[in-house]
This record gives sequence, structure tokens and C-alpha cells, in this order.
Amino acid sequence: MKENIYEPRLVTIKNIRDEAEGIKTFTLTFNDPALNAAFDYRPGQFGEVTIFGVGEAPISITSSPVNKGYLELTVAAVGDVTRALHLKRVGDVIGFRGPYGNGFPFAEVYNKDILFVAGGIGLAPLRSLINQMFAERDKFGKICILYGCRYPRLLCFTEELGKWSDLSDSEVLLTCDTNPESDWQGNIGVVGSLLPKIEVDLPNTVAFVCGPPVMIHFVIQDLLKMGFKGDQIITTMERRMECGLGKCGHCNIGVKYVCQDGPVFSYQQLQELGEKI
Ligand SMILES: Cc1cc2nc3c(=O)[nH]c(=O)nc-3n(C[C@H](O)[C@H](O)[C@H](O)COP(=O)(O)OP(=O)(O)OC[C@H]3O[C@@H](n4cnc5c(N)ncnc54)[C@H](O)[C@@H]3O)c2cc1C
Ligand code: FES
Repeated sequence: MKENIYEPRLVTIKNIRDEAEGIKTFTLTFNDPALNAAFDYRPGQFGEVTIFGVGEAPISITSSPVNKGYLELTVAAVGDVTRALHLKRVGDVIGFRGPYGNGFPFAEVYNKDILFVAGGIGLAPLRSLINQMFAERDKFGKICILYGCRYPRLLCFTEELGKWSDLSDSEVLLTCDTNPESDWQGNIGVVGSLLPKIEVDLPNTVAFVCGPPVMIHFVIQDLLKMGFKGDQIITTMERRMECGLGKCGHCNIGVKYVCQDGPVFSYQQLQELGEKI
């Protein structure tokens, strides 16, 4: 019988972690052991998550392909599917199809200094890449991570941020837009306000920018002012998606489909496609 490409695979929730306010990280394994062992992906790829009886939503894979045998998704409860997912318990079965999309460049940026600029839950797809890069540390130059949220309770992956900052030739700087009722001692301001605090070897640096559209817009403007060229800036595009497979035409940017040709694009590619960001 012909395979149904829209049929989700069954996955079981093995662990749920409260990541930040309104955000949870789910650890999943495929119910089919052979599929679980064989499942592979690139950082930056995503899957369509199904909550049966509710619907599907595209979610980035936040675990790293160096950690085999499970996948992790970090999800903000914002609508029907994501709120229903937040109500699930360990042991519940949901659906997953993927991985979809192109993923981040990896070997293409060997020997470069890497600058990550993340806003809010935008750190989720970058976390996958960051952990893969640290697993192959000798292939990259300096790794600098700038991460900002609206307020401290929204910061994700706080334990890992501490670990990354302790690794060799790496730097992690955090900021919050505001600091209501908290003992936050760190920087206050948007994530772009961290850029003047770091030293960048401009010709040898590639920047990965991920977060809400408004944050991506301003950070890219800041990077361009610093002298970054369009092909040195890599970002991700969000679109309302249906199929995730380049079939329904819901997610196009010009002639490209974000679900297949993206969600990762260089700023240069987006300009060539006429996308205003
Ligand atoms: C490639 C990709 C990767 C993603 N990765 C993640 C991730 O890792 N974690 C994560 O939490 N989210 C991620 N998202 C975002 C997530 O897919 C969306 O938030 C998704 O809409 C959630 O589905 P939902 O059914 O819960 O919410 P929805 O019911 O779709 O509602 C989400 C929000 O969109 C609004 N909305 C609903 N319908 C429309 C409409 N027709 N037009 C405009 N706005 C509308 C709602 O009011 C609400 O604010 C990703 C999206 C993409 C495209
Ligand atoms: S979501 Fe259907 S073509 Fe991209």
C-alpha cells in the first residue's frame, strides 16, 4: 500500500519540563523502536505535531542530533494545539511527522566564529545547533551567544546557558527588556543592546538570528550597521503552515516554500526573494 505522507507517527511523551513561564519542553520517543533508532535530523528542522482531535502545529526540534534515541520540543502555549499539548502528561501518545525543512548550515560554517542572537523561544531551534557545534568544538572558532527575553521568567534553558558560558572560547550574555519584581542583576534592554559589548572578527563571523519577527528585524539592522554582509546573517522565517511538505502553498515567500526551502534563509536570500524583514 502507498505510504500516506500526511500520516503522523505515534510518539510517547517521556518527560515534561517546565522551561519558563507558559513554556514546556517535551521529550518524545517514537513508539516504533526501529523508527526511534533510525530517526535523524538537522538542527533548524521542524516537525508537525498532532494532538489528536485538535490539530497540528509546526514545532522546531530543540534537541541535538548528537543525542540519539529521543527528540525534544520546546513549546509556548499560544493556541489550540499548543495549549492542548501543555495539558498532556508523561505517558500520553501524540503524533509527529517530519523532520521537515532545510535546517541550519553546519559544515558550511566550519572554522568561522559563530554569533548567536536569540529572542525568547527563538533559542529553541538554535539550542539544537549550539549543542551540535559544542559536540564538534574544534571545528568552530569563538562561539558567542546573546539571548534576550521580555522579562526574566521567560528565559529558557537557563541551566544550559550557564554550562555553555563555562566552555572554552565561548561567551554568553543575557538581557531582559524589563525587570518587574525580580532580583535580575543582568543587562536590561533589547537583545541588540548586547552587540556593542562583544568583540567581533567581522570577516570571519557568521551570525544566526532567531526570535520574534520584530526582534529579527532590529537585530539584522544592527548587524548590517556593524558591517555584516547579507550572506553572513542566517535567520529563520515563520509562516502559517498546513502540510509542511511543499504541497498546499500556504507558506510561500516569492517562489520558495518556507516549509521546504526554509525555514532557514540568509538575509541575502530573503532580499533576493523580495521579503521585507
Ligand atoms: C517552522 C516553525 C517552527 C516553529 N517552532 C516552534 C517552536 O519550537 N515552539 C513553539 O512554541 N512554536 C513554534 N512555532 C510556532 C507555532 O507553530 C505557532 O505558534 C502555531 O500557530 C501554534 O499552533 P496553535 O494551534 O497552538 O496556535 P494557533 O491556534 O495557530 O494560534 C497561534 C497564534 O496565532 C494566532 N492565529 C490563529 N489563527 C491565525 C490566522 N489565521 N492568522 C493569523 N494569526 C492567527 C492566534 O490568535 C494565536 O495568537 C513554529 C512555527 C514554525 C512555522
Ligand atoms: S505548509 Fe504547505 S506548502 Fe508549506
